[in-house]
Amino acid sequence: MSTSIAARSAAERRLVEHVDRLAVEHPPIDLASVDYSVRNPVEFEARFGHVLDYMARVELEVDRNVLELTTMLPDPPEIDRVFYADVWQPQEIRHGLILDSLQVHLGRQPADADLDSLGLKLKVLGALAHLGAFQDVCRMLYYLTGMATERSAVLAYNFLHDGVMEMGETGIAKTVIGPIRRQEPGHYAFYQLSARALWGELAAWQKWMVRLMRRMSFAPVGANNEKQKADFGDVMTTLGITDRFEDFAEQISRVERELLWARTRGLKVPDYVARAFREAVELARARTPERAA
Ligand SMILES: [Fe+2]
Ligand SMILES: [Fe+2]
Repeated sequence: MSTSIAARSAAERRLVEHVDRLAVEHPPIDLASVDYSVRNPVEFEARFGHVLDYMARVELEVDRNVLELTTMLPDPPEIDRVFYADVWQPQEIRHGLILDSLQVHLGRQPADADLDSLGLKLKVLGALAHLGAFQDVCRMLYYLTGMATERSAVLAYNFLHDGVMEMGETGIAKTVIGPIRRQEPGHYAFYQLSARALWGELAAWQKWMVRLMRRMSFAPVGANNEKQKADFGDVMTTLGITDRFEDFAEQISRVERELLWARTRGLKVPDYVARAFREAVELARARTPERAA
């Protein structure tokens, strides 16, 4: 067995073990375990209501993400299918339902999640992805998006947990935010293992294509239009990310930078990542000057 085939099967084995472990150790959160009582609902809603709404929407939109995935990756490796169908989607939907119920308990409208619209660009990608070599480009983009998204989720839930504790809402911290945030690092690990394994197998033209398409398509998690970008800017401000967004951007793109941009020395954060976050903050400021003040 050549070294590269041995390395590939070792990476595949690790992935399979990882997904098995997630399935066993992290079943979807039991809805009966959640306690929605809030000590100071008015204050809590004023501070975190919009954050809950953003996160509930992003979590619920995994149903659309699965549609996008099946379009973009018509013939995925079995382990990818097992991960998104049996582990990831059932967990994320529960996160969305729980966060959405919490905001409804606070008197807010449920999240306006887009569950089924597929953009034209994606359909074109999907058509091209029937060519195996191009499907690997799409797969790499999917893993990169997954890494940035899941790392953002880990950090955002950490900040939210701190804020909720600070307000003395220990029940919410313990039965809502805590259990959700414990499930995110396993998703991040899946994408990271997958990205590292696939990058090593891509040909030079595929890597070039990935760099180009990533640069063109990067967006913060859940920010698909100007309004959602501004909403994301508000979430960043409430969670305290705006003040240290270089650090946040660096953490969510660390492995991406290492893989795609290893030769670009001195760059802490890919420029398109930094630009997207800056834009979100600016759009939020322009929309609600009072919140930015
Ligand atoms: Fe989640
Ligand atoms: Fe996740």
